[in-house]
Amino acid sequence: MFFNRRINVMLILALTILVLGSSIKPVFGDSNPKPTEYSAYLMAYFNGEDAPVGDDWGLRYAYSKDARNWKALNNGHLVFDAKAWLRDPFIKRIKGKFHMVHTKGMEYPTIFHWESTDLINWKGGEIDVVHPAGTKAWAPEFFYVESEDLFYVYWASNHDGHHTMHYVTTKDWTDITPEKSDIFYDIGIHDIDLTIVEHDGTYYGFHKPGAYEDFMGNRLSVSKSLKPGELTFGKDGPGKVVFKDSHPGGTEGPEVIKLIGQDKWHIYGDPFAAPLEAWETTDFVKYTKIPVTTPKGAKHCSMIQITQKELEKLLAEYPNTQNTENKLVINADDGKQKISRFIYGHFTEHLGRCIDEGIWVGEDSPIPNTRGIRNDVVEALKRIQVPVVRWPGGCFADEYHWMDGIGPRENRPSMVNTHWGGVTENNHFGTHEFLDFCEQVGCEPYICGNVGSGTVEEFSDWVEYITFDGKSPMADLRRANGRDKPWKVKYWAIGNENDECGGYMLPEYYANLYRRFQTYVREYSGNEIYKVACGPNGGMTYHWTEGIMKFAHEHMDGMSLHNYCGSGERSPYALVFEEDDWFVLLRKAYLMDEYLENNGAIMDKYDPDKRIGLIVDEWGAWHEVEPGTNPGFCYQQSTLRDAMVAGIHFNIFHKYSDRVHMANIAQMVNVIQSIILTKGEKMILTPTYHVFDMYKVHQDATYLPIKLECGEYKYDERGIPAITATASRDDAGKIHISICNVDPNEGTTVRCEIRGADFKKVSGSILTAPKMNTHNTFENPDALKPTGFDNVKWTGDELVVKMPSKSIVVLELD
Ligand code: AHR
Repeated sequence: MFFNRRINVMLILALTILVLGSSIKPVFGDSNPKPTEYSAYLMAYFNGEDAPVGDDWGLRYAYSKDARNWKALNNGHLVFDAKAWLRDPFIKRIKGKFHMVHTKGMEYPTIFHWESTDLINWKGGEIDVVHPAGTKAWAPEFFYVESEDLFYVYWASNHDGHHTMHYVTTKDWTDITPEKSDIFYDIGIHDIDLTIVEHDGTYYGFHKPGAYEDFMGNRLSVSKSLKPGELTFGKDGPGKVVFKDSHPGGTEGPEVIKLIGQDKWHIYGDPFAAPLEAWETTDFVKYTKIPVTTPKGAKHCSMIQITQKELEKLLAEYPNTQNTENKLVINADDGKQKISRFIYGHFTEHLGRCIDEGIWVGEDSPIPNTRGIRNDVVEALKRIQVPVVRWPGGCFADEYHWMDGIGPRENRPSMVNTHWGGVTENNHFGTHEFLDFCEQVGCEPYICGNVGSGTVEEFSDWVEYITFDGKSPMADLRRANGRDKPWKVKYWAIGNENDECGGYMLPEYYANLYRRFQTYVREYSGNEIYKVACGPNGGMTYHWTEGIMKFAHEHMDGMSLHNYCGSGERSPYALVFEEDDWFVLLRKAYLMDEYLENNGAIMDKYDPDKRIGLIVDEWGAWHEVEPGTNPGFCYQQSTLRDAMVAGIHFNIFHKYSDRVHMANIAQMVNVIQSIILTKGEKMILTPTYHVFDMYKVHQDATYLPIKLECGEYKYDERGIPAITATASRDDAGKIHISICNVDPNEGTTVRCEIRGADFKKVSGSILTAPKMNTHNTFENPDALKPTGFDNVKWTGDELVVKMPSKSIVVLELD
C-alpha cells in the first residue's frame, strides 16, 4: 500500500514540477491590506505545561507594536477552542483571509486547518495528512503559490526511524488525503519545525534538526527554489548554526516576522523550558540577539502583521480584565477645598516665538490685531477661560529691566536675549502691552521681577509704576506713557530659578535676598499683593524647599515649583516616538504626585495650616525642538501624548488643591508644551489646548475626594496606573468627572460609584485618536479635537464608563 502510494506521489510530484516549472512564486503573506496600513503584530502561541493560566492547551494571542514587547490578550487565556490539544499554531493571511494550521497533540497523524476573516471566528476542522506508516504530524506550516492557486502544507512526521519534513499541496484544504503527501526533504536524521521566509529571491528555511538529546538548536538552510524537486534545504546536512548565543539547551520552533516597512526580521526560538528568545537580522547572515518580553509560558509561536483596526477589534474581543475592572468611588457629599482656577494658568516668556509672533505682531501687522496683540490668539484664550498669565520669564526675567520696555516703542533700547538664542529683543512688548494683553484676555497678570541682575529699587519702582494711584515719580511716568489709572497686579514672583539661571545662589543666600526684595514690594492704592518666593527647580530639589521655607516662610504667600517631565526614553522628539517613549513620558508625568507630596510635607513643617500656596509656575513636557527650527527657540509640536501629560497633571494638581494654588503650563504659544501654535497669520490649537478646554469645568469647583482602584498599564516589566481620575462639583451643583486611560493599546471600563449626589443627566466629551502621535498641523488643524462621548451606562448611583485606549473623558452629571 505504502509502495503504491509512493509511486502515485512520485507521479504527482513529477507532474507538479512540470506544471510549475521554475515559475513557482510562493507568497507568505498578503498584499491586502496595503503594507502601509499595518501598525502592529499579532502572535499566536500555545502554553506549555508551566502555563500560568489554568486552561487547557489551546490558541492564545499576544500583540506588540515593535515585535519585541508582547502583551497577552484575554489575560493569556484561550482565544479559540479547537476542541483539540492545540499545539504549534501557525497563522498567515492569504488573499484577505486568515488561515491557521496546528496539530492535535503530540501523537496524532492529523492536523487542523481553520479559516477566518477576523482572527476571531474560525471555521474548519481536522485533516488526515500523514501516510499510514506515520504516527504524528508536528508543527505544520504552509505557503501559497498564487500562479497555481495552491497551498503547500508541510509538517514533520516520522519516516525511516526519524522525523523529517513532509508536504502536500491543496487548493481548498478539503482535497487532502494521506496518499497525496510526500517527503519535502530528508536529511537522514531527526528534523522538525521548518519555517520559511523569502528575501530577495532566496528562501531561508529555519528548522530544528537533531533529537532532543542532541540539542542541535535552530539551523538555517537556504534554497533558491521551493519546488520539492529543486529544494536544497538539507542538502548540506543539518544546516548552519545561526543562534550561537541561544539558551544552552538550544531552541526549537523557529518563527520569523518581518518588521513593518523595514528590511528587518525578528526570528523567535523556543527553548522549551525557558521564555522565547529572539534575534534580529537584516541580511540572514548576521543575527543579533535582542531582548524580548513574551507572555509567560508562551511556546512555539507564529506572528503576523495586523492593522490598527484589527488590533482594536481583537482588544475589544479579548480584553485584559486587569485593565477592565477599574473602580472609582466619588464622595460627592464630602468636598471641602476649592480647585483654584489659577491651576489652569499659563506662562509666557520672551523666548523664541512665544511673545513675538505668538502674541505680539505689532499694530502695523496684516495679521488681525488689537493694539498689536493677535485677535485669534486672544479669542482662543478667552474660550478656555485663561485665569492668569505669568510674564516676562523664566530665565529672561532675571535679565529683564522693565524700564527698557516702556515709553514710545521706537525709543526703547534693545537687549541681547542671552538665554534664548542670543537674538536681539526690541522691547516692543513691555509692561503696558502685557497688561493690555491680560485685559483683552480677561485674566490676572502674574509678573516675575528681576532678582538675579536687578536691584531692589528697580523692582520696587516697577510695583509703584504699575499700581500707585497717587502722585509719585513712577505713577507720573506711567501717566506720561499714556496710562492714567493704575493696574491691579496681585501676583508677583521675586526672581526665577535663582539656584540656576537666576543667579546660581544657595538657598540661604536667596532666602536673605528674598526677605530684602519682598520688603519693598509694597501694596499701593488698595492693590493686594501675593508674593511668590522662588522654590524648588525640579520636583526633587528638596534641600532648596527646606532652606527657603526655613528662612523665609513668614514673608511669603506662595512658593514656586518648576518641573518639566522631559521627553521619551529613546526618542527626544514630540512627533517621532514609539510606545516605550509614550510609557516613559507618562511615567515621568505621574511623578508630579510624588513631588507635590514631598515638597508639601516640607512646607507642612513650617506652615501646617497651609497658608502658603505652592505655585507650580512652570510645568510641561519638554521635547527636542522640531527639526529645522532654531534650537534656542524651544519650538515643539504637541500630540495626544502631551495631552495625556496635561490630563495627568491636572488630576494630580486637583488632588493637592489644598496646597497648589496656581500652576502655569510652559509655555502658552510656540514654546515647549504650547496650547497654541502660530505660523504667519495661521493659528492652530494643540491637543493640550483641548484638555484645558475640556477641564475648564473644574475651575473654582469644589474638589470631591475619590478612591480609585485600577489596573496597571505595563510596558516591559514596568507599570503605571492605567487610569487617573478626578472629580469636582461646581457652584451650580453639577459634578464633573475627568478620567484618562493612559494605556495606548487597550480600552477599559471604569465603574464609578457616586456617593451622596442625585443627578438626572449624564453627558460627556472625549479626546482620543488612533495614533499615539496624532497632532494638529497647519494643514490639518482639526486632526485631534474633542468629540461627544456617550459610552456610559447608568444605573442608580453607578456609571459604567467604557473608554477606548489612550483617551481622556470628561463627564458632566446634572
Ligand atoms: O520655560 C523655559 C525655561 O525653563 C524658563 O525660562 C526657566 O525658568 C526654566 O528653566
